[in-house]
Amino acid sequence: MGGTGFLAKDGMSSTDPKQPKQTGPKTTGDDRLPGDPDRETLVERMIRVDHAGEFGAARIYEGQLAVLGRHPVGDTIRHMAEQEKKHLAAFDELIVERHVRPTLLSPVWHAAGFALGAATAAMGERAAMACTVAVEDVIQEHYAHQSEQLGDDEVELRELIDEFRAEEIEHKETGLAHNAEATPGYRVMSEFIKTGTRAAIWLSTRI
Ligand SMILES: [Fe+2]
Ligand SMILES: [Fe+2]
Repeated sequence: MGGTGFLAKDGMSSTDPKQPKQTGPKTTGDDRLPGDPDRETLVERMIRVDHAGEFGAARIYEGQLAVLGRHPVGDTIRHMAEQEKKHLAAFDELIVERHVRPTLLSPVWHAAGFALGAATAAMGERAAMACTVAVEDVIQEHYAHQSEQLGDDEVELRELIDEFRAEEIEHKETGLAHNAEATPGYRVMSEFIKTGTRAAIWLSTRI
């Protein structure tokens, strides 16, 4: 551990263990390790992967609606789909504003998202909800991690991510309230989808 003398701004230090962690670094990328991307690349990657993720999420819910749209649970899914569209629209804007290259994998997420949503919905309402719980759990963790990395120089982006994260948590809770965990083979299915979602995040951050 280095000294704290050079971090004397307002007597605050982001490395002070007594400081609550949720406020994040004072500047984005403060907590970068040697070899990590620079601040600009870090934010660019965040916008790229979040744009891809919201696109994938919107496609998952579209796939679910293609199967369950007229089912009693249809309106619940439609509400979540609407929120995903709002999330996607915000990142669509950010991609343009910040001149971020979108992921090259969009055609993959277009197909894979829809297929995942439709296939789980074809297994029934609970399986569709199990998919929602698995995906949203990974996404909310991903957003929490990003929020921690963003500093006071990116307050707007951090607040947007915090707001969307709260809605992803709502989606997860909606899934749980619809008996997602009662799906036959829930654990295996959930792990499978979570692994796929993490892989999609990893790829869309970089490609
Ligand atoms: Fe979302
Ligand atoms: Fe969501």
